[in-house]
Amino acid sequence: MFERLEALPADSLLGLIALFREDSNPQKVDLGVGVYRDEAGHTAIMSAIQKASREHMETEDSKTYIGPVGVVGFVEGIKKLVLGEQSSAIQQGHLAAIQTPGGCGALRVGSELIRRLGDELTVWVSDPTWANHVPLIQSAGLPIQSYPYFDASTGMVNFEAMDEQLAKLGPNDVVLLHGCCHNPTGADLSFEHWQRIAERANKQGFIPYVDIAYQGLGDGLEEDVKGVRYLSENIQEMVIATSCSKNFGLYRERTGALMIQTKSATEAAAIQTQIQDVARANYSMSPAYGGHLVDKVLHNDELRREWQDELNAMATRVKSLRAGLLEEINKRDIAKDFSFITQQKGMFTYLGITPEQVSELRRDYSIYMADSSRINVAGLNTQCLGYVADALKKVCG
Ligand code: LMR
Repeated sequence: MFERLEALPADSLLGLIALFREDSNPQKVDLGVGVYRDEAGHTAIMSAIQKASREHMETEDSKTYIGPVGVVGFVEGIKKLVLGEQSSAIQQGHLAAIQTPGGCGALRVGSELIRRLGDELTVWVSDPTWANHVPLIQSAGLPIQSYPYFDASTGMVNFEAMDEQLAKLGPNDVVLLHGCCHNPTGADLSFEHWQRIAERANKQGFIPYVDIAYQGLGDGLEEDVKGVRYLSENIQEMVIATSCSKNFGLYRERTGALMIQTKSATEAAAIQTQIQDVARANYSMSPAYGGHLVDKVLHNDELRREWQDELNAMATRVKSLRAGLLEEINKRDIAKDFSFITQQKGMFTYLGITPEQVSELRRDYSIYMADSSRINVAGLNTQCLGYVADALKKVCG
């Protein structure tokens, strides 16, 4: 029977990992998958996470099921990390929330919950968006459409075009927004844009669906969520999917959370049973380990400080790599204007070069990036900036 199904090509982004590994060029540069790397190209375990892990190993005395919510301290901590200690939704009990297997798990459960709201709902994603948004949302049975977002001529958001589309949406629409550090473009909404979106959501009745996977890797832990918090305080209903892969470095531990903001505590209690039911039907319960570690880090002053310092250092390093790359590019007088590199936020920059130029960089210079020309800035290091700029000069002229 299985002959009915054909082999599929490798995932275009994850497939880069294998291609890069097989490349024997000593100068190869991996700017593909969004993973933070240090100057030596290593993705180290964050020191606060190491400490929490050791403590957890010594104190955990059972592996019995933990319950449908996941690690309760983790879920409570993440709610506050994203929405703030003073969040009205938290204080009024308007939030339903569960731990999920990574941000992908949160997006899948969130999408299935939205599907349960009715047949008519459509999810709108930015053009472009993270490649895996589409299969995650579609496989939950939801139709997808896209709204204009990125302005290739400036490397920034074309908010006028986005807003024009939002103005046409209504109560059967769900709008997926990147909380910060837009993936793949690095072009973020300004605070004024978030205010406008809140106004639109209230007027038109669409539901914002925020994916926030890079909190702390843009302008800082608090700064990066200003827009999301504004939205939460100024509208009644929204969905938030969050991930601890990048800001806690827990990639393979699949640690994330889903939060649903509702109009009342009664609704939140009902939605809580719904998201637990969706999770149960998919994977029963989230893996607990990553949640325990984040719980420990967030609720121990010393570990929390250590984690924040390390996260700030990571964000600062990414910013300095952006500046360094632009400096090298500018020295080479390349025809294309790359000045947007230092204006974009987070780990990604969309170079805006053609698929042929992306292939040429891979084939002739062993520089790996997503087909869209998205680069993971954290994959650069001070040693390779000149090499990458040289290669860009060669392919872009
Ligand atoms: C990325 O965008 O590179 C990361 O989020 C990793 C992934 O799963 O795609």
